[in-house]
Amino acid sequence: MQVDKKTAEAFATSWNNLPSGSVYTFEEFEDWFYPLTEKDMVDKNVLELGCGNASLLVHLLQWRPKRATGIDLGDSVLSAQKNLAQSNYNNYEIIKGDLTQFESIEKFDIVYSIGVLHHLKKPKDGLDSVINNTKSGGRFHCWVYAKEGNGVIIYTVDPIRKVVSNLNWWVTKYLVATPLSFLYFLYAHFITKLYLSFMPLYDYSKWICKRNFLFFRHVAFDQLVTPQTVYIDKATIENWLKSYDNVEQNSTYVIFRNGNSWKFGGVKK
Ligand SMILES: C[S@@+](CC[C@H](N)C(=O)[O-])C[C@H]1O[C@@H](n2cnc3c(N)ncnc32)[C@H](O)[C@@H]1O
Repeated sequence: MQVDKKTAEAFATSWNNLPSGSVYTFEEFEDWFYPLTEKDMVDKNVLELGCGNASLLVHLLQWRPKRATGIDLGDSVLSAQKNLAQSNYNNYEIIKGDLTQFESIEKFDIVYSIGVLHHLKKPKDGLDSVINNTKSGGRFHCWVYAKEGNGVIIYTVDPIRKVVSNLNWWVTKYLVATPLSFLYFLYAHFITKLYLSFMPLYDYSKWICKRNFLFFRHVAFDQLVTPQTVYIDKATIENWLKSYDNVEQNSTYVIFRNGNSWKFGGVKK
């Protein structure tokens, strides 16, 4: 819990120092959720565990859920509230709390956790909460950093993260994330323009090159500011999913995304 609190406070420095609104495009939001689509959300009670500044929730409300609830342990709940207040909807709620301890009485039709489990001290505790808070017959969906395809990040960026996540956030943002993301910005544009598909992070670079430099820096800062990150392999996710008696085993999926991350989920019995 103490480690997760430190992580959440670090993320709040990222989320609370951004322009208002979602950092993601609607197309990115749809891609993160697929195979879940609008028809799965209409009139449903939806829960996001680890909602940051509500960048996903502001898009999700356009899919007309009955109600959307977001939980985060950090002060990013302040920018989440502001971003949602600017939407045309009022069927949402933001709760400040530890997602691993959260136990809803009514349970939710859909529970998702995107970009969060790999930052928890005990990622499986986060998945337990995702599944515990899903109704019988409901669906859950998660996205995590993959071990596969992230060798360059694991051996270059992650050692830097372990050092700079102890520094003042603006040192990390302006003196470390800015120059590093500029180098990666040049690399990503170079390899994608020349179709160098054998180069590391090619698919991911194709995805992120649709965005401007500020988004590159946001992603780099997000990776560097957090004291806790693990990279998760497919076998671990498959074993996690198999370990739940209350998950329909023939409903589960594990999908490789952008060559360096996993989306996975299923239906609760
Ligand atoms: C990378 S952000 C992802 C935010 C959002 N899901 C998105 O995709 O934009 C991870 C978030 O998880 C939150 N978090 C980390 N540990 C948590 C915990 N134990 N309980 C609740 N939130 C937590 C952090 O505060 C942070 O906002």
